[in-house]
Amino acid sequence: MKTLDLAKSDTPGWSRPAWRELADKWLDRCFTSERFYRWSVSNPLTRWITQRRSQQVFDLMAGFVYSQVLLACVRLSIFQRVQEPQTLRALAQQTEMREAALQRLLDSAVALRLLAWRGDQRYGLGALGAPIAAFPGIQAMIEHHATLYQDLQDPLALLRDGPMQPQMNGYWPYVNSPASAQAIQSPDATYQRYSDLMSASQPFVVDEILAAYSFEDHRHVLDVGGGQGTFVSRLARHAPHLSLKLFDLPQVAQLAAQNLERQGLADRATAAGGSFLTDELPTGADLVTLIRIAHDHPDQDVLTLLKAIYRALPAGGTLLLAEPMARERHESPLGDAYFHFYLLAMGSGRLRTPHELSSLMKQAGFCLVEHVPTQMPLHAQILVGRKSKCLP
Ligand SMILES: C[S@@+](CC[C@H](N)C(=O)[O-])C[C@H]1O[C@@H](n2cnc3c(N)ncnc32)[C@H](O)[C@@H]1O
Repeated sequence: MKTLDLAKSDTPGWSRPAWRELADKWLDRCFTSERFYRWSVSNPLTRWITQRRSQQVFDLMAGFVYSQVLLACVRLSIFQRVQEPQTLRALAQQTEMREAALQRLLDSAVALRLLAWRGDQRYGLGALGAPIAAFPGIQAMIEHHATLYQDLQDPLALLRDGPMQPQMNGYWPYVNSPASAQAIQSPDATYQRYSDLMSASQPFVVDEILAAYSFEDHRHVLDVGGGQGTFVSRLARHAPHLSLKLFDLPQVAQLAAQNLERQGLADRATAAGGSFLTDELPTGADLVTLIRIAHDHPDQDVLTLLKAIYRALPAGGTLLLAEPMARERHESPLGDAYFHFYLLAMGSGRLRTPHELSSLMKQAGFCLVEHVPTQMPLHAQILVGRKSKCLP
């Protein structure tokens, strides 16, 4: 396993040399000057830079419109329909839309590279529409974002007062009263709805974990907050020597047990219900996985959970934590802006850097914490901690 030792990499307390400060000030003056803009756009050598920046600013301004084009395409199942290229007339009949209105949508989608023109006036999949057609999880997230955008209508109110409207907050029942999460009286459909969404979007994260980490040396895995069991069932097929257990809120663990049974995995994989904030975790596993869990919870609760995992593991046991993480200051950010605001609207938790998570893991008792590189850090980064004797 190729890893980065977090202790040796840059720490977040990051400063810039004085000459960089001066250069930044000079660049700020240039980029905020109208005269500089006019000069750079008229100069053939610098024009491409100015054009590219202007396009990026325009895209930021127009982002909401782009998302709505995407949502409309998903709601009309356009990406499925054009897998075999179609004319406007055929698509209008299938979607029961007026041709003029649909043409506006389809041409916008072409401009965004979601669709592409094919011969004979037909629309086909564009470079960015193809992965959306291929992965149902992306479409489920696009549909789910309609809820998120309602809460984001007034971003300042959200930042100042936290989530005021119940949309996103109500979607995730456990964020409202986390300590008594298992006693929440939400209808079962609420758990089913968010567990379905997580299950649809999890394959990207699971692919990262299976590509980055070898399960060869483990024999028993406990997936904490394992949802409907999507990871557990993939892992069962990926590593047939493993026995597996999942732990989640009772309502969700029940869904997982049914899924594992349906897939014929019940003899190797079981599901237990409870709250990781108030209950002891099942013991017996030499590897605990924690996938997309920590970012949903405040530091205090994450610490409670990490300590429970530490207690449940035998000496030499391992914790694998995988989720999207904030980039350190010296790295270019990936989905940071998205996750910061998503978690704000959700009303709990926060996006943390690998250093922040590693320091929580160390506080819980894990001495050695390593950062395992992934192919697509946008989907997930991985930290691995071991329960071993800490050196003085
Ligand atoms: C964001 S989902 C992630 C699910 C899954 N690991 C994945 O990546 O798709 C968070 C999971 O944690 C579970 N959860 C939240 N609070 C919990 C608690 N106090 N005890 C046990 N499970 C909890 C939820 O029910 C949900 O299945």
